[in-house]
Amino acid sequence: MTVPRFAMLDGQLTPYGETRVGLLTHALNYGTGAFAGIRAYWNAEAEQLFLFRPFDHVRRLRESARLLRMEVGDSDDNLVGRLVELLLAEGLRQDTYVRGLAFYRDEVVGVRLHGLTPSLAFVAIPFGRYIENIGGAHLGTSGWRRVRDDVIPPRGKIVGAYVNSALAKSDAELAGFDEALLLDEDGRVSEGTGENVFMLRRGTLVTPPVSSSILEGITRSSVLRLAQDELGLPVCERPIDRTELYLADEVFMTGTAAQITAVTRIDHRAIANGELGPQTARLQALFDRVVRGGEPRYREWCHPVYAHATAEIAAGLVTG
Ligand SMILES: Cc1ncc(COP(=O)(O)O)c(C=O)c1O
Repeated sequence: MTVPRFAMLDGQLTPYGETRVGLLTHALNYGTGAFAGIRAYWNAEAEQLFLFRPFDHVRRLRESARLLRMEVGDSDDNLVGRLVELLLAEGLRQDTYVRGLAFYRDEVVGVRLHGLTPSLAFVAIPFGRYIENIGGAHLGTSGWRRVRDDVIPPRGKIVGAYVNSALAKSDAELAGFDEALLLDEDGRVSEGTGENVFMLRRGTLVTPPVSSSILEGITRSSVLRLAQDELGLPVCERPIDRTELYLADEVFMTGTAAQITAVTRIDHRAIANGELGPQTARLQALFDRVVRGGEPRYREWCHPVYAHATAEIAAGLVTG
C-alpha cells in the first residue's frame, strides 16, 4: 500500500511524512484512541467524489471519543470541511477510504483516561473491496466472544477493542473463511469483526439489536431504511441465535469497508441454496446507486467533495 500524501492533523494539512508519533504515545501503548472509517465514492459520469454520510461518521467519532473521556473540540461542520480539504489536496478520483483517529498523544507512562491530551488525524487512501468475495462470503463462527459493554464498549470504535476483532479475523482467515462471526456473551449473534450482520427469514429482515454488543453501524442504519422504504421489507431488530442464521433464506453483512457483502455459507453450511439471494442482490445494487449520488431521495447522505459538479447534481442533470 502506498502511503497518503497528506494528513489532516489537528486541523492542519500536513505532509504525511512529516507526521510523527513517539514510541511512548499513550494510544500506541494502551489503545486509548477511537477511530472512524468513512468511504468516499467516485461517480465517473458526474466527475464527483461523494463522502457517504460524513456527518454521521464524525458524530460517531465524537461519541466514541467521549467514551474515552476525550472531547473532540471542533464542530461537525468544521470536521467535514477538513475532510473535504484533505480529499481536495489528495485529488483522488476513485473510491476512497478516509481513516479518522482521535487519540491521546501524550508520551507518558501510566494507564488512565484523564489528564491526557487528544489529537485528531484524518488520512485518505484509494480503496476498493475489503472482502473480496462480496457475492458469497463464507463465515466461520469464532471461538472469541465479542467484547461487551462492561468490558470495552463495542458501540464505540475504540482502538484497543479491535484486538478482539483481530484475534477473530486472523483465526477465520487462516482457517479458510472470509470473515469471522462473533457471538455475544449470551451466545447470540453479535457481528463480524468489522461488519453488522443481517438475515432474511420468512420475509422479514432481522438484525441484532444495539444491546447485542454491536457497533451501531451507519451502513446498518442505511440498509434498515432502504430495505423498508425501497424494497418494502418488514425489518426487525431482535436477538438472533446462531442456528437461526443457518436456517435463514439470506444472510449478509454491512459495513463501510465491507459495504453489503452476501454470506452464502456459515461454518461449512450453505445458506438456503448457497447462492447470492435476490433481496441481497437488490440491496447491493440499490446501495451502490445511493452512495454514488444516483438516488435523489438519498442525495442528502452524499456530500460532494469537488465543487464543480454540485450544480449539475442539484439540477438533476447527472444521476450517476
Ligand atoms: C465492529 C464493527 N461492526 C460494524 C461495523 C460497521 O459499521 P459502519 O457501517 O458504520 O461502517 C464496523 C465498521 O465500522 C465495525 O468495526
